[in-house]
Parts: sequence; C-alpha cells; structure tokens
Amino acid sequence: MGKISRLLNSISINSTLKLKNRIVMAPLTRGRSGSDRTPNALMADYYSQRASAGLIISEATVISKQGIGWLNSPGIYNNEQVEGWKKVVNDIHEKDGKIFLQLWHCGRASHSDFHDGKLPVAPSAIKLNGEYIQTPKGKKDYEKPSALSTEQIKKIIDDYKKAAAHAMKAGFDGVEIHGANGYLIDQFLQTKTNERKDDYGGSIPNRFRFLDEVLQGVMEEVSVDRIAVRLSPNGIFNDMGSTDFREQFTFVIEQLSNFSLAYLHVMDGLAFGFHEQGEAMTLADFRKIFKGTLMGNCGYTLETAEQAINNQYADLIAFGRPFISNPDLVERFTNDWPLSEEGSVEIWYASTEEGYIDFPEYQKKS
Ligand SMILES: Cc1cc2nc3c(=O)[nH]c(=O)nc-3n(C[C@H](O)[C@H](O)[C@H](O)COP(=O)(O)O)c2cc1C
Repeated sequence: MGKISRLLNSISINSTLKLKNRIVMAPLTRGRSGSDRTPNALMADYYSQRASAGLIISEATVISKQGIGWLNSPGIYNNEQVEGWKKVVNDIHEKDGKIFLQLWHCGRASHSDFHDGKLPVAPSAIKLNGEYIQTPKGKKDYEKPSALSTEQIKKIIDDYKKAAAHAMKAGFDGVEIHGANGYLIDQFLQTKTNERKDDYGGSIPNRFRFLDEVLQGVMEEVSVDRIAVRLSPNGIFNDMGSTDFREQFTFVIEQLSNFSLAYLHVMDGLAFGFHEQGEAMTLADFRKIFKGTLMGNCGYTLETAEQAINNQYADLIAFGRPFISNPDLVERFTNDWPLSEEGSVEIWYASTEEGYIDFPEYQKKS
C-alpha cells in the first residue's frame, strides 16, 4: 500500500450512485470513432482498460450534426451511435465501473467544412482567434460564425434533450453537460463571446439562461442526480477569458447549487492554459458557494489530489493526461508505482490503435 488514502475511499454521490473510489477519468477526445462518429470495439477496449477509475467521463460527444467541430469524435444523435455506446457501457459495467457521457456542442469552434458549407453557429458573430482548425478538408482558418436566432436556440435545447434520452437508452450512469473549454455553453456564459442584446445576453443572469435551459431540458430525460456540469472559469483554451469571469462564474455556481446535481466538475487548475484576466478561481472559491459534490481537475498529481480531498475542497479529482498512458492509474496510485511517460501530442487524436490501447499495465520488476 502506498501513500494514498482518501482518494481510494468509495463515495456515495447520492442514494443511487456509489463510486468505488474518487479517482475520475477526465473526458478525453481521442478521435477514434471514424467519420460516421459511431463508437466501436476499439473504443470499448480503451475504456474497459480504464474501468478501475471510480468514474469515467466519456470523451466529448456531439448532440447533433450541427454540434460537430472535431474530426472523428463520437456522436449520440442516431441509433447506430446508441448501439455503439451500449457496448462501451456494458464492458465498463461488467468490470463494476461507472461511466457518464459528456454532451457536446462546439458552437463557433467549428468550420463550414463540417457543415456542407454552412457557417458554424454561436451566440454572437465573433470569430475564434486561433491558429487553425483541423477540418475534413485539412487545416483551415477559423470563420466568423453565424449568430443563433431564438428559434435555433430552442432547437439546440431540444437536441440536448434528445441526446440525453439516447444516453439513457445506451445505459450510461449519467450525463455531464460540457460547459467548459470555449464550446457553445461557455460561449453563451462569457462576455468575450456573447454580445447578444436579447434574453440570452447582456446581463450575467441572461448569459446563464442557455445553460439553465439546457439543464432543464436534460432534466426531462435524466434524473437530476445523474446530471453533472463541467466549467472552466480560468481556461484560455479556444480563445476564452473574460474580464468579468469571477462575477459570471460566481453567479453560475450559485444557480447550479440550487440543483441537486450528481456533481459540479471544475477545471480549477491552470495546467491547460490560464487567461490571466484576474485572480484564478480556486476550488476553495467554489466550495464556499456550491453545496453539492465537487470535482476538481487540471494538472493534479497524486499528492495534490490527496491534499484537495483532505482539505475538503474537492470530493473527487479527475485526471486527464495521466489516464492516456496509464490505463491502470488507480492501481499505480494505490501501490505507489511510477507513472509511465505521457504520450506525445501526436497520438492524442491519431485514429490508430497505437498510442491508444497499447499502453501496458505496470509490470513489477522481480
Ligand atoms: C487529448 C485531450 C483530449 C481532451 N478532450 C476533452 C474533452 O473531450 N472534453 C473536455 O471537457 N475536456 C477535454 N480535455 C481536457 C481534459 O479533460 C483535462 O481537463 C485536461 O487534460 C487537464 O487535466 P490533466 O492535467 O489531468 O490532464 C482533453 C485534454 C486532452 C489532453
């Protein structure tokens, strides 16, 4: 037994959801679904290798064709995709694991090459300032997205609802609404990307309205204690970071605290890029406001994760990159075994078995 203790304790999130430990596999886009965006046997193997995590959060999964913005990422908008996910979920359940599906709409972080020439959609027509986007036709410049009409917004909320129903059909233990990393929901939340003058912009409560309505929609299909939300108040990814981020996210947390969510997932660490628009929000800030189960993420090590749990700032810690190259991360933490080197960025989204299911479990030298 190594130096780990609290992270390994099981946790009852609510009366129906018990996790065998507090080590969570963070959502990781790996681009292995092919162009039909249907989960396959290779993905089932990959997730199954990591089933000792207390909870797995699936890679971001698009709720509709309109939500697409990444090559070969999976979807949950048709029956074939539901069937594909069933196999993944069954394999995890057979190993006594749990898995939530992350619901995704890319918004402006997309390109017309994904949409038969139609521009991507966003709260406002503000272009993402980034180097390039990888599209089916190669690397392209970002485009100015088209601003959503109210009618289109309502349609997207319905898409979230349908996707959530599909997730339940596939057998997922719950869903995580992706409100982080500069994708559509985050674009609504932040002034940097939302200049709307209607009910969905202009004030802090108005910018929260879209997430609120998505949540209400998903709640029609999934019990609220099986719904989670992910936020990245400090993140710069996808050209994010607004001067009033502290006020905005404080309000969002206050509002989310009124729901009995499964958990709130916060990318509190700065290891995925910090926008430097003010003092970073910490788990302690979140803990002061949020009454429910809190999950931290970003750059955590075994030691800092233990600390966060011991200090009671977090109930769960999600690990992303460490899970890519350490399918047996839980066992390595448990036994204080060394971690294998993080794989190179090239293998993250490489559409191959290599760099995906070929990271071995730790072999003790005798
Ligand atoms: C290859 C890769 C893919 C990712 N895909 C997603 C994703 O699909 N959804 C998401 O919310 N975050 C995604 N992230 C962010 C991770 O969930 C996590 O927040 C990040 O890696 C920081 O945690 P870590 O320091 O433990 O790796 C991704 C990160 C990486 C490296």
